[in-house]
Amino acid sequence: MDTIPASGSFGLGLSKRPQCDGECGDCANASRLALNRVRPDEAASPTTQGVRREFRRLQSLTGVLLLFSSAVGTYLLATDPSLWLLAVSHAIGLVIIVFLDLVLGLYSLASSKSAYLPSIAAAFLGFVLQLGDIFTAPQYGMTIPYFASYLFGLRAFDLLLGLQLFVVMLGVAGRPQAQYLARRKTRAGRELDYTRRSFIRAFGALAGLVGVGVLLGSVKLPAPVQQGTKVSTTTAVTSGAGSIANVNLLRVGTPVYFDYPAGYPNALVKNSDGSLTAVSMLCTHVCCQCNYDATSKVYYCPCHGSVFDLAGRVINGPASTDLPTIQLKVDGSGNVFPVGVSNPGPCQV
Ligand code: FES
Repeated sequence: MDTIPASGSFGLGLSKRPQCDGECGDCANASRLALNRVRPDEAASPTTQGVRREFRRLQSLTGVLLLFSSAVGTYLLATDPSLWLLAVSHAIGLVIIVFLDLVLGLYSLASSKSAYLPSIAAAFLGFVLQLGDIFTAPQYGMTIPYFASYLFGLRAFDLLLGLQLFVVMLGVAGRPQAQYLARRKTRAGRELDYTRRSFIRAFGALAGLVGVGVLLGSVKLPAPVQQGTKVSTTTAVTSGAGSIANVNLLRVGTPVYFDYPAGYPNALVKNSDGSLTAVSMLCTHVCCQCNYDATSKVYYCPCHGSVFDLAGRVINGPASTDLPTIQLKVDGSGNVFPVGVSNPGPCQV
């Protein structure tokens, strides 16, 4: 409830009050209640009014920052295909954060007190998840330092992180006002529900929501099998046990795909002079899997557009490092075996 001054006798009968001289804000407040039939929780002392104004300002700023954060998150989702191609679960987690920021931003702008704690909880959650992303690097075949340098190199990522942190700091800055209002036991105070338990509850609920989204995004759907497409990336043209191909069966300039080591996709090509070249298909930028473009005879990365020639050399960035090459051994019958990896890239090949 907004402050009903301690000296007042609201609710006990105004007739018992000492004579009002009109100077006291409390009496003026009580008189306003009596004359205008203002509900008790709508009355406020000058102090409370000031606190409420201050709190409203903080909430408005929080709302603006959350909306900005939602816009930056949307920009990231729209402009970084690697989120969808490499880390769908992260993309879905970010979609949920963007949605939460949008809703809580609007509620905060509308000065809804019930949005205060969830806004801080959502921003804190977003901040923690963004930093946590860095530690999922091994899941995508990258080292943590390499992935961290990539993420912190993205301006939108940094901005998003900064905005989430700023909202958390605003929440902390508004703590005295929130505590003051919550202590009033008014409708506004109840709506604010400023307790540690409420914060933990809000954080848990939001984390659960994001967790469900991330889990759904982690479900691997079976890849659609098209007519004539090989399902396996291993051994496409071979005639010897354990080999990935036989030189005599290979067509010049047409790649054959194989895994080496297990789980790492590569391509083998027979050159026009009869020599062989095998390269990793994992792009050296952020480890998305490249595709072979039969028209241009290049490997093309669908994430950010890097292009490599059949020998794995960079033609177009953002990748700046050539694809790792696979060392090969050919036996007397022409069977080809992978035996090692030269110049391993950031994808831990
Ligand atoms: S992962 Fe970025 S261009 Fe390949």
